Amino acid sequence: MKMTRSKIKYIFLSSLIVAASFFWHAITVSPNDEYLIGVGSYDMTGPAAGVNMMGYANIYQTTAGVHFRLRVRTFIVAESSQGPRFAFVNLDSGMASQLVNIKVLERLKTRFGGLYTEENVAISGIHTHAGPGGYLQYMVYTVTSFGFVQQSFDAIVDAIEQGVIQAHESLKPGSVFINTGDVANAGINRSPSAYEMNPEEERARYSTNVDTLMTLLKFVDGASGKSIGGFSWFATHGTSMSKDNKLISGDNKGAAARFFEDWFAANMSDALIKEAQRIKATGGKLCGPKTSQGFKVRKNDGSLFVGAFCQSNVGDVTPNVLGAFCNDSGEPCDFTHSSCHGDNQLCLGRGPGYPDEILSTKIIGDRQFIKAVDLFMSATEQLTGKVDYRHVYLNFTNIQVELDGGNVVQTCPAALGPGFAAGTTDGPGFPGFQQGDKELSEKWIKLRDALQKPSQYQLDCQQPKPVLIDTGEKFTPYAWAPAILPIQILRLGKLIVLSVPGEFTTMAGRRLRDAVKETLISYGSSEFDNNTHVVIAGLSNTYSQYVTTFEEYSQQRYEASSTLYGPHTLSAYVQEFKKLAQAMAKGETIPKGPSPPDLSSVLIRNLVGPVGVSPPLGVNFGDMKVDINLPKSGFFKKGERVSATFWSDNPRYDLLTEGTYAVVEMMRGRSWTSVYDDDDLSLYYKYKVDESGLYSLANLEWEIPKEAKSGVYRLRHFGSSRKTKDSPNIYFTGASSAFAVS
Ligand SMILES: *[C@@H]1O[C@H](CO)[C@@H](O)[C@H](O)[C@H]1NC(C)=O
Ligand SMILES: *[C@@H]1O[C@H](CO)[C@@H](O)[C@H](O)[C@H]1NC(C)=O
Ligand SMILES: *[C@@H]1O[C@H](CO)[C@@H](O)[C@H](O)[C@H]1NC(C)=O
Repeated sequence: MKMTRSKIKYIFLSSLIVAASFFWHAITVSPNDEYLIGVGSYDMTGPAAGVNMMGYANIYQTTAGVHFRLRVRTFIVAESSQGPRFAFVNLDSGMASQLVNIKVLERLKTRFGGLYTEENVAISGIHTHAGPGGYLQYMVYTVTSFGFVQQSFDAIVDAIEQGVIQAHESLKPGSVFINTGDVANAGINRSPSAYEMNPEEERARYSTNVDTLMTLLKFVDGASGKSIGGFSWFATHGTSMSKDNKLISGDNKGAAARFFEDWFAANMSDALIKEAQRIKATGGKLCGPKTSQGFKVRKNDGSLFVGAFCQSNVGDVTPNVLGAFCNDSGEPCDFTHSSCHGDNQLCLGRGPGYPDEILSTKIIGDRQFIKAVDLFMSATEQLTGKVDYRHVYLNFTNIQVELDGGNVVQTCPAALGPGFAAGTTDGPGFPGFQQGDKELSEKWIKLRDALQKPSQYQLDCQQPKPVLIDTGEKFTPYAWAPAILPIQILRLGKLIVLSVPGEFTTMAGRRLRDAVKETLISYGSSEFDNNTHVVIAGLSNTYSQYVTTFEEYSQQRYEASSTLYGPHTLSAYVQEFKKLAQAMAKGETIPKGPSPPDLSSVLIRNLVGPVGVSPPLGVNFGDMKVDINLPKSGFFKKGERVSATFWSDNPRYDLLTEGTYAVVEMMRGRSWTSVYDDDDLSLYYKYKVDESGLYSLANLEWEIPKEAKSGVYRLRHFGSSRKTKDSPNIYFTGASSAFAVS
């Protein structure tokens, strides 16, 4: 990390001159402000205890604290106050959810009339695997969370609404710049044997088996010349945190966003010259001081800067860049099956901080952050031209696809194969399965048929995938998988964003981007050309798992086995996206397609919430259970960990949205000032149950940052309790003993 920090300093100082000239350039020349731009950001952390996390489908992985908070980050661009606009919402969660979109759009309709609709709002998940689950509606995605979890869902819907309101209300004239560059070593292909199934001449066009390109937008306010945000797209999985982690975390993209916004706050928010002096004086550190009190340490004072790291064609890209190894022998895993002598459980990917997953999260976040700063500082290509969008719902159950050469094939009802059950090197699934399995044992065929016997049509259609779970033909108690999927194209001048409801592999994404670009160029006037930027916004608007190429599908690794609608799924996307692109290029409209169902009235909800409790005899909530353990020297050194445990209650009574469960306070003069909160990566709030199993504990752990000032500190916890399930919240707080840091 040391190297990283000095690298940042280097980047910062070396770009200072460029930045200074650009900064003033932006003010004085004020290139005709092309668009109205607004940004928004809101806390969507959700329930931090006892809720299954979304991503690994690991029933034992339930939330138990907060590493750092989850946020919604939004931008809106409009041609003019009456002209076309769109809203892009980046969600710190595993993926978008159809039901979230339906409910968000209902609220936006009530509030804004017809301004924001399914057509021009894109909601895209960053694919962290460390956020609360239960907010999706199709059955398969809520099995491990014991059904739908209202609290997870509400936290997300509320936050998106607030983020859009902020962005809408802050719309002002400004300009947008775009820049692209390669991110080094933040992702490798986790299914390289599948990638190698793609035609050799196609692979020869690319130097790597993952996309390394990051595309960044920089938003600049016209009146002040100050930047108000930076949004970037880059593909890498949110699996730096493992399937055993229980702390809520935005994983590497959430960390990158935290670093970017903190960097901006520390380095860019005031006049650049003044800031440059301060940065020199402090050695170019990353984290700005936090100033406010109590529940809310980080305040939105109107000078909001929103930095977002959005997901792209992430299907086969892992952040565990050291590769996958057998944890018994230490040898690399079997190349084709990612197993160790036939056992999928033993083969695990390693991040750059191995075996420390939090360090891996920071490093992969850092690599994206550093490139984003670089692109942000050097962005000069200004976007001009139309704001436009096209959106359609498609029933993926049976799309007729005309292949090159005229052959007509079709997509299938959704189904999962054994490679899905095997899981990946980022998180092995069920024992007894391997990626690439193309046979099912008699035992599994019997179990499958007991759940849902696939039709012969389905078995044939999905070939060579053996159907393990026939999700697309199972409708009890309600649909197990989506049939209706939204696809969408957003246009901002020469930027084209493709909202896809799933995880495209690297090559699948390349094929889609190329097809859309060619279509736009051939049907559009000269407004589209080879310099048109096409990015994929992954996991958007709803979720339907993976999309591989036809060739990758033949190998039936995890991604192929999770490609729901059969071997021609990608060809169907390409065909239908070309129709949207053509309509956009020609200025035509397109029929809306069949509406997706709203299953909210029939969802199963089996997760039991906390039921209320009084504190144990003789203590109050907020009292210390285990106080600070001072070292012999009498003080802590930077880099050491300080820990304290409080009697507490379940954080689900109040999510403390835009607040914090934990604060580090520092003595300044005669009073305590909050300096770090639970959104800081150095401060951990860990939820535990005590030995009796009756009472909750809050363990606060502070990893004293190298840049912390010497002085006197203490740890403070905030929480709420209830005597019974439905009684009112009782708020409490407590602080540890003071300790010195030197
Ligand atoms: C290997 O990983 C598996 C699954 O995570 C775990 O159960 C097992 O204990 C590990 N084995 C060794 C030798 O570390
Ligand atoms: C999708 O199409 C299939 C096949 O035509 C049909 O059975 C199904 O009802 C459709 N699904 C929805 C949600 O419209
Ligand atoms: C378009 O751009 C790509 C890469 O940017 C380049 O490889 C290709 O040759 C260009 N094609 C044309 C027709 O200019």
